[in-house]
Amino acid sequence: MPEMKFEADRLLLFGATGDLSQRMLLPSLCALHADGLIGKDLRIVATARSEMTTREFRDFAREALEKYLPKNRRGPMADFLNQISYVPVDATTPEGYDELAREVGNYKGLAIFLSTAPSLFEPTISGLKRVGLTKGNARIALEKPLGTDLESSREINDAVAQAFNEDRIFRIDHYLGKETVQNLLALRFANILLEPVWNSNYIEHVQITVAETVGLESRVAYYDDSGALRDMVQNHMLQLLALVAMEPPTSFDATAVRDEKVKVLRALRPAKPEEVVTGQYRAGALDGKSVPGYDEELGKDSGTETYVALKAHVDNWRWRGVPFYLRHGKRMPERITEIVVQFRCIPHSIFEGRGARTEPNRLVIEIQPKENIQLTMMAKVPGLGSEGLRLRPVPLDIAMPDAFSDVVRRIAYERLLLDLIHGDQTLFVRRDEVEAQWDFIDHIRNLWAENDIQPKTYAAGTWGPSAAVALAERDGVTWHDD
Ligand code: BG6
Repeated sequence: MPEMKFEADRLLLFGATGDLSQRMLLPSLCALHADGLIGKDLRIVATARSEMTTREFRDFAREALEKYLPKNRRGPMADFLNQISYVPVDATTPEGYDELAREVGNYKGLAIFLSTAPSLFEPTISGLKRVGLTKGNARIALEKPLGTDLESSREINDAVAQAFNEDRIFRIDHYLGKETVQNLLALRFANILLEPVWNSNYIEHVQITVAETVGLESRVAYYDDSGALRDMVQNHMLQLLALVAMEPPTSFDATAVRDEKVKVLRALRPAKPEEVVTGQYRAGALDGKSVPGYDEELGKDSGTETYVALKAHVDNWRWRGVPFYLRHGKRMPERITEIVVQFRCIPHSIFEGRGARTEPNRLVIEIQPKENIQLTMMAKVPGLGSEGLRLRPVPLDIAMPDAFSDVVRRIAYERLLLDLIHGDQTLFVRRDEVEAQWDFIDHIRNLWAENDIQPKTYAAGTWGPSAAVALAERDGVTWHDD
């Protein structure tokens, strides 16, 4: 049965003065407005704790747009701002919700977006319920972190389920809003070439890297409580893994896609202690500038990891014996998110007798910052070759920005907000997926606790602790660093 879709005519934005709202949500909404993708009849009700009038909030929003949205994407900004009103609400107290309900008024469809601390989810939902804002065609989007472990995530999910059915709950993983992440599905399922070799017969291993150059930034309290495993691996990286490893869904709809992803997540084998390496950066240099260590930025010692490398296994027919190496770190030498699919060697080389070596094919899907897909193929080096026949890998490049140079690059949240407004859940995470993700992560965190594993240090501006190199090299694998 197709999922129920209906277009919202109201958007209620909690946490409207927050960082995400300024940097991503307001700019995305304005860009959608500029392109005529959200209607003039969509009224946006913004709310946060700060006492502000609508006029003051519009000024605040204008500043954010001028700062974070390129000029050529702003469109008629004043028209957009006129669609927004503001109601101050302290989410933890019952007051304020009546006023909010009055401001929202009668709606055909209401999209609620909680860009707030998860501790506010429960009181917000009960406040909304009390004033009837969960009734009818109302749906809710939730930002991460959805809990800190399986148990707390269940509590959040239960609280939300008190007021909304699962087909009204939109859990955000902003990586799914990225064009290049969606392109993974196109690459796999809109081409005949890859699927026949997309399995353990032809693939030797997969690497997924999410490297960032930033450090702690200004998120001291959140990050030190969270750490790299929960901040990035639990959500974004496991979603990437699921998209790479999933079986072909029968259609591109929310149920079919998520059914296949959750099967992969549930098939993840619990990690062994020797399959996980953690690290924390110390002072070092990036782009020729020296940067402080994590402990210095934090102002105290900490056992929180800023780097994780792990070897994962998907225990099913397709992936038997194919390790998935995942790594993520802050203060790496460059910002790059990529997926490397390493194919196996050819079964027999006819060129060996002529002294030519062959290397196995490799597919590199760069998600960001460049959006390239590269397949290395073996080719003959031209020449008569007195020293014998020579072969060399040459890249087949698909540079997405060149192929689609006339197309606007969109913010991930534009896709997600539009899908929320239209009620399409395909790119949102279902409860069973989140819980399977936590299951895998909780097991790793228990290992750390049981074995008192502390992160190893690495210098900022390097690719992490040497133990991570050893993790791959034990299997004869080299991380794709170039
Ligand atoms: C967020 C994490 O979910 O993703 C941040 O909390 C991280 O720590 C960010 O920096 C990375 O997102 P992107 O889109 O810049 O890769």
